[in-house]
Amino acid sequence: MHQIHLKAPNNWINDPNGFIYYKGQYHLFYQYFPYAPQWGTMHWGHAVSDDLVNWEHCGIALYPTKWADRNGCFSGSAVELDGKMYVFYTGVRYLEVDPENIHKPFNEQFEPTQMMITSEDGFHFDNWNGKRAIIPPIENIAIGNRIHTRDPKVWRGKNGWYLILGSSLECKQGQVLLYRSSDLTHWEYAGKAMSEALPGWGWECPDYFEVDSAGILLFSAMGIEEPDGKPQSHSLCCTASFDEESCRMSFADQYQLVDYGKDLYAPQTTTDAQGRRVMVAWLRMPHPTEEGWIGMFTAPRVVEYKDGHIYFRLHPSIRQALQKPIDCAGQADSGIYCIRTALHDGEELNIGGYRIYRADGRLYADRSALGEHSEGHQMVSQTPPMQDGYEIEVIVDKNVVEIFANDGEYVITHVVYELEPQVTASKGVELQMYTTDSMEG
Ligand code: FRU
Repeated sequence: MHQIHLKAPNNWINDPNGFIYYKGQYHLFYQYFPYAPQWGTMHWGHAVSDDLVNWEHCGIALYPTKWADRNGCFSGSAVELDGKMYVFYTGVRYLEVDPENIHKPFNEQFEPTQMMITSEDGFHFDNWNGKRAIIPPIENIAIGNRIHTRDPKVWRGKNGWYLILGSSLECKQGQVLLYRSSDLTHWEYAGKAMSEALPGWGWECPDYFEVDSAGILLFSAMGIEEPDGKPQSHSLCCTASFDEESCRMSFADQYQLVDYGKDLYAPQTTTDAQGRRVMVAWLRMPHPTEEGWIGMFTAPRVVEYKDGHIYFRLHPSIRQALQKPIDCAGQADSGIYCIRTALHDGEELNIGGYRIYRADGRLYADRSALGEHSEGHQMVSQTPPMQDGYEIEVIVDKNVVEIFANDGEYVITHVVYELEPQVTASKGVELQMYTTDSMEG
C-alpha cells in the first residue's frame, strides 16, 4: 500500500531521527513514546523504505538502558562509515521526576549527554553494550545552557567529521555548538555560532548542509513572538557559511520559514540515492486521531537553493507515485491524491471546506471551516507575496494537506481531520487530479 506520509504506528511520535540512505534502503527513525498517545520517555522507533513512498515499521531501535539515557533517547542523526551505521543521539536523565507522570521531568530539570551507538546492518542495535557517551553535559555556562543542548547532527566534511548541536545561551538566545572528530568516536569542541538577527531563546534540531554551492542551516527555534503575543516554536532556515579549518560558522540575517502552515517542526535531511538533499519533518497534531495515534511526517521534499531563495520541492518519487488520473476525489486510492492547477488573485480551490485561495500575490490556506480550532494551531496561513508564477500542487491525505506553490517556492502544510473527498474551484480554474496506482503498491 502507498503511504507517502509516515504515520505513528500507534501512540505518539515526534521528530524524525537518523534519516539515512544505507545499504540500498532509506532508514527513518523517530521519537516514539510507545505507551500512550502523548509525549513521554523517548524511544527511537524505526521504519524503512525502498522508494521514500512506501514505509514499513520495524519496531523499536533504541530505548533507555544507561544512567545517562535512563529517561529517554532524544533526537539525533546517522551516518555511514566502512559499512557500519553510526547513530548519534541525546541521552536524557531527569534530575527531578514529575511524581504524577514519571515520563516527564519536574520543572524541566534534566541533563543531556550526547551518545553514540553503531549497527552492522541498520536493524540491530545493542542497547545494553553498544552505547557510548561522546560529549558530556556542558559544564561551562559561557559555552551553553546545560539543560538545553541537544540533537546531534553529524556530517562528513572534506577533512573529517563535524557535529552540530542545538543550544541556548543563558536561555535568551538560540545558538549552535560545533564539534569535530577524525574517527566518529572521539569528539572535540570546536566553537559555536549565533546571530541576534535570528529569533528564539533556544534552538533545537539544527541541520547544516551544502546544496547548490550554498551552505544552509535548518533549525527549530523555541519562543518566537507571534502577532497575538503568545510565543511559538517554528522551524526556520537561512543560508550559512562554514569554514572547516577554523570551524567558524556564520548565518545570514534573513531567514525563511521552512513551511508557512506552521504545523511542521524538527525537519531533518539526508542525501537520497540520486544525491539530492531530501528532507522530512514532524507534523504537530493537536489531538490523536480516532484510531488513537498522534504524529506524522511530511512527504519527502527536496531542498534546493537558487537566486537567494531556499526551495522545498515535492520529492520526484512522490510525484511518480501519483500519476493515475482521476476525475474526482472520491476515486482516490486510500484517500490519497494530488491536485495540480494554477490560482490567480481572487481564485479559490475548496477541498471539503478547506479553502486555498490567492489574494494580494499571496497564497492563503484556511482550515477554519473544518471545525477544528486548537490552541497554537493557526487556522489561516499565508505565504509571503510571490512575484510571479501561479502554479500549485496539493497533496491530500486523510490527515494532512500539503500545498506547494511554484514548485516549492513556498509550502503550506496543515494537519486536518475529517476532510470530505470533494473538490470544487472558482469558475475557469482547471484542475488535474491524480492518485496512486494501487496495483503497484
Ligand atoms: C524537538 C525536541 C528535540 C528533542 C526531542 C524530544 O521536537 O524537543 O529537541 O530531542 O524533541 O522528544
